[in-house]
Amino acid sequence: MNIEEAITHLQQGDIVALPTETVYGLAADALNEAAVQKVFQIKGRPLIDPLIIHVPSLDKLCKIAESNEVVEQLAHAFWPGALTLILPKKKHVPDLITAGLPTVAVRSPQHPVMRAILEQSGLFLAAPSANPFGYISPTRAAHVISSFNNTVPVVDAGPSDLGLESTILDISNPNKPRILRPGPIGAKAISEVLGISVEEPYLVHKDDKQGAQAPGLLAKHYSPKTKLVLVDKGSPVSTGGKTVFIHLQRPDTPVNNTDSLTHLWLSEDGDLKTVAHNLFDVLRKVDAQDYDTIVIERAPNEGIGKAINNRLERAGV
Ligand code: TXA
Ligand code: MG
Repeated sequence: MNIEEAITHLQQGDIVALPTETVYGLAADALNEAAVQKVFQIKGRPLIDPLIIHVPSLDKLCKIAESNEVVEQLAHAFWPGALTLILPKKKHVPDLITAGLPTVAVRSPQHPVMRAILEQSGLFLAAPSANPFGYISPTRAAHVISSFNNTVPVVDAGPSDLGLESTILDISNPNKPRILRPGPIGAKAISEVLGISVEEPYLVHKDDKQGAQAPGLLAKHYSPKTKLVLVDKGSPVSTGGKTVFIHLQRPDTPVNNTDSLTHLWLSEDGDLKTVAHNLFDVLRKVDAQDYDTIVIERAPNEGIGKAINNRLERAGV
């Protein structure tokens, strides 16, 4: 589907999968409740899990959320980009989108196709990742097509550049920024812009308290159907059954693939951006094969490595 057709569909209250620089999103006119309802239905997503609204600019954010003094700084530094801001919502934003919460998630994406659609349509677009609820997010049009049996039109713009979902920052209290989901933009970069520290509560406790803040952020998620085991680099592997071992970088010594053990790697040199870019595509590919277990190496816990590990920990629950 092309950009013009996608805009017509969205204006009519239909759903279209759109490319963003993080992952593909399942988009609907955010102010059309019937359209938003379809997104929940297609994804099989529980109504307690709120959606992100995509906007082309900070001006538009102010129409749906209460801005504050630090939002401008954040938008100036990181928008358009992979940073979602949680802010108090304006009254007219449907409760369906925010799952009844007093806050709304807003992001201005960088992908030129998504931006063209936002700018030309004038719509606010609600868009969760375009995967069935709980499964691995899509980084290519083919992922969306296979997940929904070709029932949802897709604007194909090739692979998503970053390959991991946006960082979610709760900035509803401007003095107390908290990252609810780690992503491509790290706490350190945000803290440098704001000049105050940024909480990363997900690193400390994984109990249900945080679930109330961010309903979709805790439970099992991003999961392949195949059992996934996360290991530290260099750990011995003995799982029994047919196993695929996913390394972050090409092993130093040549690998010995056998009937029961296959080795793959996500990058040549361990570059974490490349790892993130390839991660979901490789997970989906191996999940479509008949392995009993996926073993995957933990990333160094720094920069985007934190976001990679967060997804892998939750995929392996
Ligand atoms: O990169 C991304 O963020 C992608 C692309 C398509 O923009 N979107 C995405 O959406 O990952 P989704 O729905 O798969 O994940 C959004 C997360 C959900 O886990 C949801 O619980 C959380 O954002 N969220 C949404 N509104 C919230 C709110 N008001 N307070 C706390 N968490 C919220
Ligand atoms: Mg998602």
